[in-house]
Amino acid sequence: MNIFIVCVFPEIIEAFKSHGVISRAIEKSLVTIHSVNIRDYSDKSGHIDDKPYGGGPGMVIRAEPLIKAVRSIKDKYPSSKCIYLSPKGKKLDQKIIKSIPLDTDLILVSGRYEGVDQRFIDLEVDEEWSIGDYVLSGGEVAACVVSDAIIRLIPGCLGDPESNKDESFDNDLLEYPHYTRPETIDGMSVPDVLLSGNHQEIKKWRQKEAVSLTEKKRKDLMKKKL
Ligand SMILES: C[S@@+](CC[C@H](N)C(=O)[O-])C[C@H]1O[C@@H](n2cnc3c(N)ncnc32)[C@H](O)[C@@H]1O
Repeated sequence: MNIFIVCVFPEIIEAFKSHGVISRAIEKSLVTIHSVNIRDYSDKSGHIDDKPYGGGPGMVIRAEPLIKAVRSIKDKYPSSKCIYLSPKGKKLDQKIIKSIPLDTDLILVSGRYEGVDQRFIDLEVDEEWSIGDYVLSGGEVAACVVSDAIIRLIPGCLGDPESNKDESFDNDLLEYPHYTRPETIDGMSVPDVLLSGNHQEIKKWRQKEAVSLTEKKRKDLMKKKL
């Protein structure tokens, strides 16, 4: 899988690439993340943004450098999917993340300032994705969030292949609680069943806890099941 992140601050992407699960996935060649600097596609003036037509605050990223950057990727990866990260986009959840084929080459375009010229979206973008109903100052962080959520689903990516089974949102439930050593902290003990070695009972307990936790914290997920 190739992920191209088209953005103003590639340093953010480079930092993201250099830690934990993501850096291991890159080392194992399970994914390649390319940061693409929009400024490399600016005209001689070096400007990538301009004032909005109609007035108003802030600046807008111009269409031409974005179009040039994205077309240079599409020339080499013609079946790639171009996504603009935007608060106006489709709100992502784990189901949508899991529906993305893991052999897709993705172009994730990150805006800044007031956003990007609409004509770039109309000409080049296949879909707009939002990571939630709030406004970030730039799309780089959103592109990292989306990339992380997808990459950890690639087989071979996590140290233990079981780690992404029965996670929160699978079967519309939150995950059961976890405990590790020591057995007691400030008078609070690990539930006996987890020390019993009885795997069937542990499974039952975890399922029950997952249901009651979801009822308590995320009734909306339970409604989906009814
Ligand atoms: C300050 S925001 C622009 C917000 C825009 N003026 C609006 O009100 O919809 C700058 C950039 O951050 C990114 N961004 C902000 N919030 C986001 C979100 N919830 N999901 C994905 N990207 C987001 C987008 O790429 C956007 O172009």
